[in-house]
Amino acid sequence: MTFHNLFTPVKIGTMEVPNRFVVPPMCNNFASTNGSLSDQSLAYYAERAKGGFGLITIEATVVDKKAKGGSNKSCLFDDSTIEGLKAVVDVCHAEGSKVSVQLQHAGPEGNTKVTGFPLRAASAIRAASHRETPIAISRDEIYELVELYGDAALRAKKAGADAVEVHCAHGYLINSFLSPRMNKRVDEFGGSFENRMRIVRLVVENIRQKAGDIAILCRMNSTDDILGGISIQDATVIAAYMESIGVDGLNVSRSVHLRDEYMWGPTALHAGFSADNVRAIKRAVSIPVIAIGRFTEPHLAELMVRDGCCDLVAFGRQSLADPYLPKKAKEGQLDDLLPCIACHQGCVANMYSGAPIACLVNPALGREEEVQKKAETPQNIMVIGGGVGGLYAAWTAAAKGHNVTLYEASDILGGQMRLAAYPPGKGDITNMVRSYISKCEQFGVTIHMETDVTMDLVKTENPDVVIVATGAKPLVLPIPGINDSGVLHAVDVLDGKAECGKKVLVIGGGLVGSETAAFLGELEHDVTVVEMREDVAMDVIGEHRKFLMKDFSEYGIDKVTSAKVSSFVEGGITYTAPEGNNEKRIAGFDSVVLAMGAKNYDPLSEEVSKLVEKTFVIGDAARARKALDATAEALEAVLKI
Ligand SMILES: Cc1cc2nc3c(=O)[nH]c(=O)nc-3n(C[C@H](O)[C@H](O)[C@H](O)COP(=O)(O)OP(=O)(O)OC[C@H]3O[C@@H](n4cnc5c(N)ncnc54)[C@H](O)[C@@H]3O)c2cc1C
Ligand SMILES: Cc1cc2nc3c(=O)[nH]c(=O)nc-3n(C[C@H](O)[C@H](O)[C@H](O)COP(=O)(O)O)c2cc1C
Ligand code: SF4
Repeated sequence: MTFHNLFTPVKIGTMEVPNRFVVPPMCNNFASTNGSLSDQSLAYYAERAKGGFGLITIEATVVDKKAKGGSNKSCLFDDSTIEGLKAVVDVCHAEGSKVSVQLQHAGPEGNTKVTGFPLRAASAIRAASHRETPIAISRDEIYELVELYGDAALRAKKAGADAVEVHCAHGYLINSFLSPRMNKRVDEFGGSFENRMRIVRLVVENIRQKAGDIAILCRMNSTDDILGGISIQDATVIAAYMESIGVDGLNVSRSVHLRDEYMWGPTALHAGFSADNVRAIKRAVSIPVIAIGRFTEPHLAELMVRDGCCDLVAFGRQSLADPYLPKKAKEGQLDDLLPCIACHQGCVANMYSGAPIACLVNPALGREEEVQKKAETPQNIMVIGGGVGGLYAAWTAAAKGHNVTLYEASDILGGQMRLAAYPPGKGDITNMVRSYISKCEQFGVTIHMETDVTMDLVKTENPDVVIVATGAKPLVLPIPGINDSGVLHAVDVLDGKAECGKKVLVIGGGLVGSETAAFLGELEHDVTVVEMREDVAMDVIGEHRKFLMKDFSEYGIDKVTSAKVSSFVEGGITYTAPEGNNEKRIAGFDSVVLAMGAKNYDPLSEEVSKLVEKTFVIGDAARARKALDATAEALEAVLKI
């Protein structure tokens, strides 16, 4: 498929964007503690510009020093940070991208510990139970804040930015005025629609007055996804109003943080899940509209632009996973596109914790310069294991110019992550495994399949470097009866190697057990899950868990929690409470599936390291954890060679 519509220019106010690919604002914690964009910020944005994105939006940038909610947030509340921003703008311009700066006041979602100032919001309503109650911002403060937005926009203009984007979404300060759920004011900023919109109008007018013809976008919610908040009908009117006050373009997002599962959709949601909303907004205005939401590949984006559903498409997390998406789309190289698998493990988790963001699929994120440096002395590298850890290490090392040979014991690459794609809604993980294989091919990694590496083979090959990535095996605890009970392993069930009867008992309700239960439930098995902790899927990231729990209720999956298995019996188990000894029994199942965790599998490193000084053990082979650890450690190993 060609992407003709995505590669046509479009005007947003005075700014001409060369194509329809947008990097939306994403807090990354790369900025220096003084609020200035850092060298790391510069390398990060430069890479997205080189990758061909037409419009790059700088992360939420703080307009009011009393609202700086994290130590590494980008700021524009005084002139000291103009220079750092200018360096980023210049490097993006040099690659042909346009730059917009998102202007933000976090309002009720701020961080008083960092700022030392109380939170402010339209009204004194908490954003969530873990947030403090904000103070209802005073009228005087509102009028002062309006000036701060204009001042920040002028600074963005001085730095050479083509546009500013006023953050009116996601439950932050301005959104708290727009939403009848959060705005209970009885002054000129509350009550009627135009009163609730007043703050936006004043901010936009102030920016226009101070920063002249800079393009002004607003980021808005197409729905707050919460009862009584902004609905899609409200949003169409908000959009039209924004156009009427001189806004040049709309970046249409959705949700408040209580509904993060729609703000950044997990793997279960596919591109276009917000398409109807954006279409409704596009119909309400004549200014350009940016769509967003789980876009990874460009195909649906092309159709949406072609059909007039939106004018541009933002690829958020996808631009973290692979900044070269536009170039690859243009050049027909989508087979090695590193896909965002919507795992949230590196980006969202770090953003919330205040750490620099990372990416499970693309651990080079934020370390672009280090990774691109070629090896001074190419080495012969032996990678043992073709899971995602081994595959990632292999192709990044080969890309640096090393001679890499990868050995895989089985007849298929991908290790456990290949199987992680089987449960409902996790299909994109297959794309990740495939892209790594494709990268290995591209960089000339030699791959030996069905080769169980032994010490003899290592001696024969005599490599300079060995990367042990032999992964993990299912954990089988020494519980009475376990070996004679005919239990199946969850990985074999997912892999189609073991078949279950109608009535299934899954032992272990962590991520693997719960997802295997959902997999079987969808196939109309009667499933029960036994878990030692007080609930199932407690190790599953919140946004994913909400969808997994919907599967549990839709498929009627039973849960037996706070239950420690004490023995395996015919068609079932006995169990006690974790601290108790009052044994209970559940039986009558056709199949019992084991998902009690995994144990690292490393039969080689001890001996290999005696022979090869540079031996690295990475991923689950070191300790069974998650794919984020496997790819991150793969990169660390390659950078140490
Ligand atoms: C069903 C399931 C779902 C999961 N879901 C997720 C998820 O959603 N998110 C997440 O982050 N993690 C998930 N995980 C965990 C994740 O898959 C692992 O942490 C990750 O794949 C570890 O990667 P690895 O490369 O270290 O090892 P592995 O994936 O275990 O790969 C090791 C490879 O080494 C090969 N090998 C072993 N010994 C030898 C030898 N001597 N010679 C040659 N080859 C050898 C094996 O055959 C295997 O292919 C899931 C795991 C499972 C089982
Ligand atoms: C790590 C991270 C940081 C984000 N920071 C911001 C931000 O600063 N401002 C904003 O409006 N949205 C922010 N978002 C939301 C994204 O702009 C985008 O709307 C969301 O990720 C959905 O798009 P996607 O599905 O293409 O990732 C952030 C998202 C992520 C993953
Ligand atoms: S960490 Fe996961 S969700 Fe975030 S960009 Fe990478 S693949 Fe996507």
